[in-house]
Amino acid sequence: MSTAVCPGSFDPITLGHIDIVRRAASLFDEVVVGVARNSSKAALLGVDVRVELARAALADVPGVRVEQVTGLLAEFVRSVGAVAIVKGLRGGADFDAELPMALMNRRLTGVETVFLAGDQALAHIASSLVKDVARFGGDIDDLVPPGVGRVVRDALGASPAGGGSRA
Ligand code: PNS
Repeated sequence: MSTAVCPGSFDPITLGHIDIVRRAASLFDEVVVGVARNSSKAALLGVDVRVELARAALADVPGVRVEQVTGLLAEFVRSVGAVAIVKGLRGGADFDAELPMALMNRRLTGVETVFLAGDQALAHIASSLVKDVARFGGDIDDLVPPGVGRVVRDALGASPAGGGSRA
């Protein structure tokens, strides 16, 4: 059985993420979506909320489960016995950001990272932009799975600075 890990911070999960996870699920027997901490980003949503939203959004995709990554992604990949890490690319900037992580994860685990081209119609969607649009009152409901927009708006409303810094 082939297992792949789709890692990310998923703050929040977007339709772009769903597209990539679905593509990964068509290539591997099992896909573990790993909700991790990106130490270079301050998260708006707590990790439990991010996991919960991802589980709800992916509940109908066979062969997919969602888990929290508590430490190093490389350790998580090893612990689930994955043969690949899958990441989506929207363009060259994504590749530039992803390549050092792919090389580091291969160095740490020997596991390859497989890059998938996402749906071009979703290439404008990034979690950071989704939060920024919501922060300034724009509509994000066609960018994220059902129910996610409300959680993002609530989190932004609950934070005096309109943002957060959770793990
Ligand atoms: O969605 P993102 O923020 O681009 O995902 C990046 C993420 C969370 C996958 C990356 O920061 C990560 O792997 N974090 C876990 C800690 C870790 O292993 N860091 C070293 C990465 S080479």
